[in-house]
Amino acid sequence: MINKQLPLVDLHRHLDGNIAPKSVWELAQKHNIELPGNSLEEFTPHAQIQGQTSDLLAFLEKLDYGVSVLADFDAVYRVAYENVADAKAQQLDYTELRFSPHYMAMAFNLDMTELVNVVADAVAAGSRDFGVKTNLIGILSRTFGTETCMKELDAILAHKDKVIALDLAGDELNFPATQFVDHFKKARDAGLQITVHAGEAAGPESIWDAINLLGATRIGHGVAAIKDMKLMDYLVENTISIESCPTSNYQTATISDIRQHPLRTFFDHGVNVFLNTDDPAVSNIDILNEYKVAQEILGFNSEELSQIQRNGVKAAFLSDTEKQALF
Ligand code: HPA
Ligand code: ZN
Repeated sequence: MINKQLPLVDLHRHLDGNIAPKSVWELAQKHNIELPGNSLEEFTPHAQIQGQTSDLLAFLEKLDYGVSVLADFDAVYRVAYENVADAKAQQLDYTELRFSPHYMAMAFNLDMTELVNVVADAVAAGSRDFGVKTNLIGILSRTFGTETCMKELDAILAHKDKVIALDLAGDELNFPATQFVDHFKKARDAGLQITVHAGEAAGPESIWDAINLLGATRIGHGVAAIKDMKLMDYLVENTISIESCPTSNYQTATISDIRQHPLRTFFDHGVNVFLNTDDPAVSNIDILNEYKVAQEILGFNSEELSQIQRNGVKAAFLSDTEKQALF
């Protein structure tokens, strides 16, 4: 199913949505933090999505357990480092790991700027130790409002040489892109590339805003683009890629049935769409699972799946030379 002759990448992967239940449990024991259940076995189902949630916000609540145990920088280092081990275990050749400094720092009021530094150190060490190429994407968690996001941005920009891009995640419905124009201008001026969660909980206008107001060259999820043919054409003509995460889209109830996922329509229309995991530990999936969904449920053949792998490389926030080196 995976073409081993081609690089395997995952560019939409939340480091803070990929903390293994075992690590959450162990860190909770170490720091005396209460979790549901009396054992790892009892706790694990609480930390993973079962079937489908009611909406994006219900899905995102599941990520709260992971960040609730980040009691100190050792814990932050551990979960960041383990993310690279996990990328290796999932056979990834290259991954862009994204994280929200505020979300990771908030439970124990850790210094956000230092947190960015610790995550970068841990991921760099993991990248060396496991032989997986990585880059980091900083996230502004829109759910916490514009002021917190500005502080979050400053923490990210303090280490802008260690972060390749900026993303906007969280509650898309209640915190539209229009509120974050200044943040993204500042990030672009500092040389960061831009990807934005859009068209997941809101409609196609949210994707237009991500592109026109925030300068996104990639769109996270982008499911709602299916409703706007002009937008689909625009994505093709301007090579704006869609980071597709089918299982996540089902679990957040963005789509009601996995068979209705627009991946096929995007692909056939010529959009540079590719497969990603989003929050693998919380969704209880790996990247191979997403290729399996594409093949077995959405009817992609081997050549089409290879093209999806190539689309991922094309969309990567890497120089042409770095992309070549992945082959
Ligand atoms: N959408 C918005 N925010 C997120 C997501 C998502 O799918 N995953 C983790 N944070
Ligand atoms: Zn995401």
